[in-house]
Amino acid sequence: MLTFASMFESLKLKKYPSDARFDTIYPKKYQEHSARHFTPVSIAVKAARLLADKPDDRILDIGSGVGKVCCIGASITDAHFYGVEKRKTLTNLSNKIKREYKLKNAHFINADFTTLDFSRFNGIYFFNSFHEHLDETCVLDETSRVSLSEYRNYHNSLKEKLNECIKGTRLVTYYTFKNKIPASFQFIDANETGLLKFYIKK
Ligand SMILES: C[S@@+](CC[C@H](N)C(=O)[O-])C[C@H]1O[C@@H](n2cnc3c(N)ncnc32)[C@H](O)[C@@H]1O
Repeated sequence: MLTFASMFESLKLKKYPSDARFDTIYPKKYQEHSARHFTPVSIAVKAARLLADKPDDRILDIGSGVGKVCCIGASITDAHFYGVEKRKTLTNLSNKIKREYKLKNAHFINADFTTLDFSRFNGIYFFNSFHEHLDETCVLDETSRVSLSEYRNYHNSLKEKLNECIKGTRLVTYYTFKNKIPASFQFIDANETGLLKFYIKK
């Protein structure tokens, strides 16, 4: 059986645990949400490899949840992964895991993504973070509510923030339609039957 430390070590060796196994690092209540709300290990690995190229790359996960993408990216590449998450309990949990597994290049910020300067990052990951405002079966906890106007406002802000990115910035989206991405990003490719999309800022 893999211990937690060796789970991150095994990722480096390209031996990928199942999501059920990986998610045992999170409290039970978040394990139950994982399939719906958090990126699967295999997708996080693909996204990290598309986004990170050099040790000084700075990758932002917009709405980082329990920090799964950042922790996986930080363990399989030398790039710096930043997760911005509006829920303090999830940011605290992500920081606890970062410390426990000594993931020095994973960083977590408790904030609304709209407050960040996107020109500081040269890679962006986005997994449909505002869907819980659209679909009541997707609401994560009582701090959120279904609201079409909130959903639309956040997507408008997402376009504005992505327009701040510098030329050459890479963007990977998961479960996100192309019409949510501004025209300043050129679509390059898609895989995982179209669910994972790759763009570059023009
Ligand atoms: C679908 S989960 C994705 C988690 C993570 N990116 C992943 O792929 O595993 C979306 C997360 O975005 C967060 N979120 C939603 N709106 C946000 C906002 N305006 N600013 C920061 N975080 C936000 C939610 O709290 C939730 O944890």
